[in-house]
Amino acid sequence: MDYAVSKEIAALLNGGFDIQVVESTVSTNTALKEWAASGAPDGTVLIAHSQQGGRGRMGRSFCSKRGGLYLSVLLKPSISPSAACSLTPIAALAVADSVEAVLGKELSIKWVNDLFYGGKKVCGILTEAAPSTNGLGVEYVIIGIGLNVYEPPGGFGNELNEIATALLPTATEKSGVINRLAAEIIRRVYSYTATPESELFYNAYKKRLFVLGKEVTIYQGNTTFKARVKGLNRDYTLSVINESGEEKTLLSGEVSIRRESYE
Ligand code: BTN
Repeated sequence: MDYAVSKEIAALLNGGFDIQVVESTVSTNTALKEWAASGAPDGTVLIAHSQQGGRGRMGRSFCSKRGGLYLSVLLKPSISPSAACSLTPIAALAVADSVEAVLGKELSIKWVNDLFYGGKKVCGILTEAAPSTNGLGVEYVIIGIGLNVYEPPGGFGNELNEIATALLPTATEKSGVINRLAAEIIRRVYSYTATPESELFYNAYKKRLFVLGKEVTIYQGNTTFKARVKGLNRDYTLSVINESGEEKTLLSGEVSIRRESYE
């Protein structure tokens, strides 16, 4: 069996982080938020083998069965609330680069923070920030990552089997893979998000983005519209052209997009 072990992850990282591993929790983001409110420092990480109430973007739930890596990191960066928006795409890049470094598998990114493998979603990221009391910065940021490492024994469930996948089949479960992935992800998330303005990360993120130039459907609040993706702006917002030829800028966090097909 492959389990996250805090000591082993800490050893791979050569210290510098406070890593807690629990068998199960409602949501690692929710728990870490409580710890942050009681003064937990930058570098605190919570990992669970499963979650009973895993949360996704826009109030959705996130399937969190055993076999996945459910990990939340606490950051206390000195940045403006608007700069905090670039942390989510940068974290997506950090996860994709980590998976490639550990398993040699290439993931692509669906703006803004979903990671895809073989045309199906393999990882979701939920970033939650608490603004500072003067409103000029952020008190803390929690980046929650749900990565489907092994296929759950009974599958993801009828609704998700068509759209979700895992990096590895259940039968290949081998001790140590989850620790290596966790350590690599923690290391890269902290190091990448320390320089969120980096041109290097912007270019690397753009390279993995598979919606550029594609026809997509955009879900924004109660409205839905079709558009063509024109490009990724430097602040990680997305420019799209709607069916009337108007250009719109999509801000992360407000919208979800779907490609007509992922062939
Ligand atoms: C999404 O796909 O909409 C985002 C999913 C984020 C899931 C992760 S799992 C670890 C952390 N804890 C949560 O409750 N959510 C995030």
